[in-house]
Formats: sequence, C-alpha cells, structure tokens
Amino acid sequence: MNKGEKAVILAGGQGKRMKSELPKALLSVLEKPMLRWVTDACEAAGLSNLCVVKGFGAEKIDDYLDGRYQTVLQAERLGTGHAVMQTADFLREGGASDTLLLNGDAPFIDAETILGALAQHRAGGYSVTVVTSEVNNPHGYGRILRDGDFVTGIVEETDCTQEQRAIREINSGCYWFDTEALLEALDKLTPANAQGEYYLTDCLGLIIGAGLRAGAFLSPNPDVVLGANDRRGLLELNDIARRRVIDKHLDNGVEFTCTEGVVISPAVKIGAGTRILSGVVLRGTTLIGENCVIGPNCVIKDALVGARTVLNNVQAEECEICADVKMGPFVNIRPGSVIKSFAKIGDFVEIKNSTVGEGTAVSHLTYIGDSDVGENVNFGCGVVTVNYDGEQKFRTAIGNNAFIGCNTNLIAPVKIGNGAYTAAGSTVTGEIPDNALVIERGKQVVKEGYAARKLRTRTEKYEKTKSQE
Ligand code: UD1
Ligand code: MG
Repeated sequence: MNKGEKAVILAGGQGKRMKSELPKALLSVLEKPMLRWVTDACEAAGLSNLCVVKGFGAEKIDDYLDGRYQTVLQAERLGTGHAVMQTADFLREGGASDTLLLNGDAPFIDAETILGALAQHRAGGYSVTVVTSEVNNPHGYGRILRDGDFVTGIVEETDCTQEQRAIREINSGCYWFDTEALLEALDKLTPANAQGEYYLTDCLGLIIGAGLRAGAFLSPNPDVVLGANDRRGLLELNDIARRRVIDKHLDNGVEFTCTEGVVISPAVKIGAGTRILSGVVLRGTTLIGENCVIGPNCVIKDALVGARTVLNNVQAEECEICADVKMGPFVNIRPGSVIKSFAKIGDFVEIKNSTVGEGTAVSHLTYIGDSDVGENVNFGCGVVTVNYDGEQKFRTAIGNNAFIGCNTNLIAPVKIGNGAYTAAGSTVTGEIPDNALVIERGKQVVKEGYAARKLRTRTEKYEKTKSQE
C-alpha cells in the first residue's frame, strides 16, 4: 500500500429499525462493533489514513473512536453521496491517489477483497472500481449494469426497471475511486432520483460521462455485502461470524463437543487439543493454551489461560490463570489476579487483585482480595480476607506452606508467615511468625444435663397442643 491511499467509512446512519440509541455502525457482531470490523479490515490491508463520516449519534462515534481516526460530521443525512461530500477536505489532503469508500455497517469486508479490488483497479486503469457480489436475493441492493468488463452504471432498487431488478450482481457499497475523479464527480452530483438523495452510486455515471473507466471486482467472499437492517438481521450476522470463528478453531485443532451457547470473539486464540464445552463465551483478547478443558458455562474476558488448565463454570476477567490449574465450579476470578500452576480453586471462590502461588488449594467458599499468597498453601472452607474498612483497601500476605483454618477472617493489613497455621474460626490481625499457630476463639463452656430439662418442657407443650386439636 502506498502512502497516498486513504479510506472513507460511511457511518452516519441511524438504522431506525434497530431501535437502538447507538448509531447502526456501533452495533456489535460477535461483541465487536461493525465499525471496528471495517476499520480492522482496512488496517489489515495496510490502510490507516481513515476518515469516518458520522451523523446520528456522532458523539458516540467520537467516544468509541477516541481520536484513533479522523471524523467529519454530516449534519443532515441527504444520502451516501452527500456523506462523501463532507470528506472533501480529507480527500484533498496530501494530493491525489486512490480512495477506498466503505459502508460502516457491512462488517464482513476483508483485506483480501480490498487489495484484490485495488490491484484490478490499477491494472485496468480504472477511475472507479466497485466491489460486487452475486447473490440469490438482490432485493434492496444497487444493481450493477455492465458492458463486458466495464460497468456502465449502478441502479438503486427503487429506480430499477423490471428487467434491471432481475440482475443478481449487486453493489457491495465498497469502491476504489481515483480521488481526483471522485472529487470532480461529487461536485456535479444532484439528488435527481426516486428518493431525492445524493447517491454516491451516481458518481459512476458522471465518471463514465467524463470519458473515464469504471470497473467491477467480483468479490471472492460473497459475505462482503452483508449488512443488517434490524435485530433479526444482526442476529444472522452474528450466527455467520460465530460459525466462521469456530471453523477457524476447528482447523487449528480445537475440539468442540457441541457449539450451543459458544461465542468466541474474533481476536481470541486457542491452542490445539483444547476442548470447548457448551455455554462458553470467550471475549476480547483472551488467549487459551493447549490441551485445556474450558466449560461448561465459562465467561472469560481478556485473560491468559495456560496449557492443560481445566475451567468448569468459571468467570474470569483481566487475569492470568497459569498452566495445570483446576478451577470450578462457580468461581469468579477478577481483574489483577494471577493463579499460578497446579493451584486448585474449588467451588464458590472469588479472587480479586491477588496472586495465588503454585500448588495452593482454595477448595471452597472463600474470598481472597488484594492478597499475595505463597506456594502450597491450604485454605480451609470459608476463609475471608477482610481487605476493606469502608474507606481503604489493605493487603494480606500469606507465606509458603501456610495452613489457613476454616472460617478464618484475615483482617488486612495482615501477614501470615511461612508454614504458619491459623486455627479454624479465628479472626487474625497483625503479623504471625513463620511456623506459628494463631488461635483466636472464645473459651468453650459445656453445661451437663442442660438439654434434658429443656426437652421435658417442650414435650409437655407439644402433648398439650395435640390433645386440643
Ligand atoms: C447503498 C448503495 C447500494 C448498495 C448498498 C450496499 C447508494 C445510493 N446505494 O444503499 O447501491 O447496494 O449500499 O449495502 O449508495 N450513510 C451516511 N449518510 C447518509 C446516508 C447513508 O453516512 O446520508 C451511511 C450509512 O450509515 C451506511 C452507508 O452510508 O453505513 C450506506 O447507507 P444505506 O442507507 O444503508 O445505503 P443503502 O440504501 O443500503
Ligand atoms: Mg444499507
């Protein structure tokens, strides 16, 4: 890709039938906004000089892009041609070369298509090359009029004759334009059509009229054209994308016992030999090693999971779970946590912003927050690190080989030495030396014969109510 190429992405539309507060291009397919699919495809093709046309919900587009690309505001939505007119300054910057135009609501455009179309555009000396697709149902799309290799025009559905309506080669909404020719055509564009809009597609007629060439690049990927007008359509895009991602992992040697409820974001990586069970949602940039068993019912976001680890009914976010860990069911690993190899994290355990050392067992009903836990520590049932006093958070440190008795409260800041024990039910504060036992419990009192007296009174009462019935 030369420096001169740039891309314009049209994202001004609302998508009324979505009934969303977000502009349509920000609605997600596989948890990634459609606009991001399009910018990712551009980046993958080596295009990073992008300008996004915003209109409905412009501030939401700004928030989302966070300054990554230029934007222009189309204050009134008067059609795709009008949208591109707003980018004239961007198009003029840096001299003329070729410009890619794309719809922000067609997520499946890919780098191969973008680059294939550019190569043909250049080789054929075209001033505009439209990316087309052959579909069974062309309803709603602009139809391609051809004369052999040359395109003679694009007619919108509403302006089609009966004959033109039968054409199955359609406009994907993605084009390469010679930037100079585009700017000249935009100057002459009028809204003289059935919808009274400035059609970008009319630029082709104007370019041809100026004696220049228009071509078509039939995409090898027929999905490039797909978009969605309503939530049903969006679900269909999700289904297509979901299946494609799963197919990629199948090719890489990942095992799926079924695909029910399995949703894997496009950037997730999974090692060969890993089994994914039902109800697994892998989000963001999660990376899973080889030969793991993930699921059923896990939600893992932006996490690293080492090889051979088993996660059953686990939620984990922004954390690292190393190799050979066994975890679940019903475990929540929150941001900032590192669970080292051979650790065992059992049912109803929550861990936040903590390190859990190698081989440590946290088997049941425990909260570990803001803690540094050593190797081979054993947690009894129901341990709580009391990390928050209502104002500030404090850390808990537990040495290697320590043994934390059931129902221990560790009131942070607190430090348990290497090999130290806490007696069950203790509430521990301060610093406990290595290999010590800390016990903090009321003295046990036993009252002999107490129950027999109580039982007599209770039995008499019961007999009386029964005789009254
Ligand atoms: C457009 C094409 C059609 C093509 C189809 C592919 C025109 C006239 N028609 O039709 O040939 O087959 O895409 O999907 O271009 N937008 C703005 N501002 C506007 C209008 C639209 O930013 O004033 C944006 C929309 O947000 C959307 C894109 O442009 O991302 C396409 O607009 P849309 O209204 O969906 O065009 P189509 O009627 O689908
Ligand atoms: Mg559309």
